[in-house]
Amino acid sequence: MAACWRDEMTMLSSSGTVWNFAAGPARLPDAVLARAGDALFRRGADGAAAIERPFTGKTVRAVLESARERLIALLGIPANYRVLFLAGGAMHQFSAVPMNLVDADSGLRTAAYADSGYWSRRAMQEAARFAEVSVVARHNEGEAVAAPIVGNWRLPPGCAYCHITANETVDGLAYPAWPDTGEVPLVADATSCFLAAPLDVSRFGLVYASAQKNIGPSGMTVVIVRDDLLQRPARSAPSPVCYRLQAEQDGCLNTPPVMAIEIATLVFQWIAESGGLSAMAEVNRRKADLLYRAIDHSDGFYTAPVIPAYRSITNVRFHLADDSLTERFLIAAEKAGLVNLRGHRHVGGLRASLYNAMPLAGVTALVDFMNEFMRCNG
Ligand SMILES: Cc1ncc(COP(=O)(O)O)c(C=O)c1O
Repeated sequence: MAACWRDEMTMLSSSGTVWNFAAGPARLPDAVLARAGDALFRRGADGAAAIERPFTGKTVRAVLESARERLIALLGIPANYRVLFLAGGAMHQFSAVPMNLVDADSGLRTAAYADSGYWSRRAMQEAARFAEVSVVARHNEGEAVAAPIVGNWRLPPGCAYCHITANETVDGLAYPAWPDTGEVPLVADATSCFLAAPLDVSRFGLVYASAQKNIGPSGMTVVIVRDDLLQRPARSAPSPVCYRLQAEQDGCLNTPPVMAIEIATLVFQWIAESGGLSAMAEVNRRKADLLYRAIDHSDGFYTAPVIPAYRSITNVRFHLADDSLTERFLIAAEKAGLVNLRGHRHVGGLRASLYNAMPLAGVTALVDFMNEFMRCNG
């Protein structure tokens, strides 16, 4: 056992590569990191670096426009949507969404939420401060974890919108299909699956995603909102949070998160040059399949609690059947150059986040380590 333990600790670290599986802020593409220094910090002929320029000036406006155009091209966003790059995280949108979309004066006083796990509950708790919240679907608690089954959701009368969390970062589950909410706008928190695969934006009234997974550094959230929803009065929304006012000023009602937008532009370019979202989806599927296969073929040494059809391809949640080995796994993994694998404190166990910037080689290293750890401890 002692020799095995030593093998397990030294086996992979010899390559010197450290693979970061953090759920967010997450790894950025190597090519983006390599260019970011110059793009952000090198002063140009105007005497300013990217992060020193006034956001009212032509240069920053051009960067914003380029970011928007690149994102529209990647996702094929229809012309009747506005794309905003707003300061703050997805949690800001937990309150911004009801503040903008609920309009009690015109009878839109309720908000429907599907409870799919940790983040959807956080979203609905926040929304309950601004609207009557109705839970229209629940995820499976207990042994077999899944997203709510899509279909026949009974939306409440006066429903302003129906909110889903497209990918639950903590619980490691995702919707395999989108619900049909008819006339009621579907709103998605797409934070942890945004740009991991193509997304048919036309199925949604509003999509939001904070940046620190697949878009860039934290501090920015992308909001894609359908034009008709901008007509709602948003009486209680402070100006920087009001989608209509922000859209009227191209997202520059207040200082936009310039640094995050600059890097997002590089990320969008990297995705396009790497083959676009279909190519991202294909590689992401291969990475997730590789890891889930290792878990499923471990004779129960590792377990994945989520039912296969609902498994997230970006946040792979798994456990050691013998939970007392978890700390040992984490220590050995870190020594082997595999870091940030601890599961969220809410669910425990382990989690590997496989965003776009994680190459197949990182997942292969993790799977090799897991097999070796099982050989030594099984
Ligand atoms: C699905 C989801 N929603 C919301 C959040 C909160 O995002 P932020 O920290 O940007 O406010 C997270 C953070 O990980 C998330 O994964």
